[in-house]
Amino acid sequence: MRKLLPALYHCDRDGRLSPATRVIAMSRGGLTDADFRGKVDAEVRAFVPVDDDPSGWERFLGRLHHVSVDVGGADGSGWHDLAALLAGHEDRDRVFYLASPPRTFGPFCRELAAAGLVTPRSRVVLEKPLGHDLPSAQRINDEVGAIFDERQIFRIDHYLGKETVQNLLVLRFANAFLEPIWNSLWIDHVQITAAETVGTPGRRGYYDHAGALRDMVQNHLLQLLTLTAMEPPARNDREAIRDEKVKVLQALRPIAGTEAGRFTVRGQYTGAGDLPGYLDEPGSTPPTEGSRRVETFTAIRAEIRNWRWAGVPFYLRTGKRMPYRRSEIVVQFKDVPHSIFPGGSPNRLVLRLQPEEGIELHIMAKEPGAGEVTLKPVPLALSFGKTFSNRVPEAYERLLTDVLAGNPTLFMRRDEVEAAWRWIDPILDAWRADPALPEPYPAGTTGPAGAHELLGRSGRAWHEEEL
Ligand code: BG6
Repeated sequence: MRKLLPALYHCDRDGRLSPATRVIAMSRGGLTDADFRGKVDAEVRAFVPVDDDPSGWERFLGRLHHVSVDVGGADGSGWHDLAALLAGHEDRDRVFYLASPPRTFGPFCRELAAAGLVTPRSRVVLEKPLGHDLPSAQRINDEVGAIFDERQIFRIDHYLGKETVQNLLVLRFANAFLEPIWNSLWIDHVQITAAETVGTPGRRGYYDHAGALRDMVQNHLLQLLTLTAMEPPARNDREAIRDEKVKVLQALRPIAGTEAGRFTVRGQYTGAGDLPGYLDEPGSTPPTEGSRRVETFTAIRAEIRNWRWAGVPFYLRTGKRMPYRRSEIVVQFKDVPHSIFPGGSPNRLVLRLQPEEGIELHIMAKEPGAGEVTLKPVPLALSFGKTFSNRVPEAYERLLTDVLAGNPTLFMRRDEVEAAWRWIDPILDAWRADPALPEPYPAGTTGPAGAHELLGRSGRAWHEEEL
């Protein structure tokens, strides 16, 4: 209701759905088409500008259907209903979008195939989490792969649909000035942050088993790291780009055993003011002993072992209940080799994903004045919102458009997901073996002290601490 249907509505409004396109919702809900349309009319309205185009909204509602299916259940009648709806349309594209728990992915695909509904023009979209470790991810990939070819499988990571993320490739590979200095000779380190103000109310059932490392790092943050660090692909094509991304994941230096204590930090927020702590968040299930070990914050010093990046740390950081919502990639260049002015600081390139997508290059400038030369870091700033009049599409809109067009470039390939887990699993093992609990940090702050020491040890600081 909040992401997918609004995205489909925008695709429709922009003329990107064929007149014959149908959206068939499947749930155990026992709704009729009319019930479902009424529900969408009531709930999705809040997220899309329906009043600008009432007839367009009616047209969209008219595309919607509902079929009741109980995946893994005894009653297979729902599959017959779906088959009846699709009969005679075997030549059309079919996209099966699974926004359901991952344990249902395999059974769903098998039942779909058994009902004879998988055609050569079918695609399947998988929402995260794609497993909770490497073996479970491989199992999901095997089960889905038994029914669909890899070219038909679209593993969604909504961060890849964000405008700035796609702009990162354009910035790097459609401009000549940056690439020659995009390496360890010129870059000191990179910071990748996804800070959120939200906590986890109502999500304990999921979050107790996930934690920040699985929820945000294994997918979103590692995707940002690969796009920042990858070699220039020879072509803008699905396999060329994903081949280069996998190579970055494979070059990540493993963090295992006692090294986890030096290269990673875990935190959990505690109550502060009106904000509850993680253990006090209202959840679908009450906290357990295990809840105390869940990290709601993590910071990691990652290293990429290749010629371009040797010696350049990539600091990854994400947390719930931080003081601001901000996702960004900060590339910090080295200092000038010899300074003739007092008080300079190194250049920084900031790629902001949210809020307010944009790119800033922080350069040193002379503060106007007739006296002593005084240096000041000032941003050369590009705001996408202000520079382009186009509406910035939501990530899901971009990704759904690509699924409909059959373009998987912005989706994770099987080997990519598995390479990411291969790096994450030893960290999880090390954390499990560590009797210490995550470091507490008060809700509404920038994370535990350890996160600041992680950079402080080498004389560095997180971007915002120096603003
Ligand atoms: C999801 C995570 O994948 O991404 C959530 O499961 C998180 O925990 C969300 O809040 C963040 O997405 P965005 O687009 O708001 O940064």
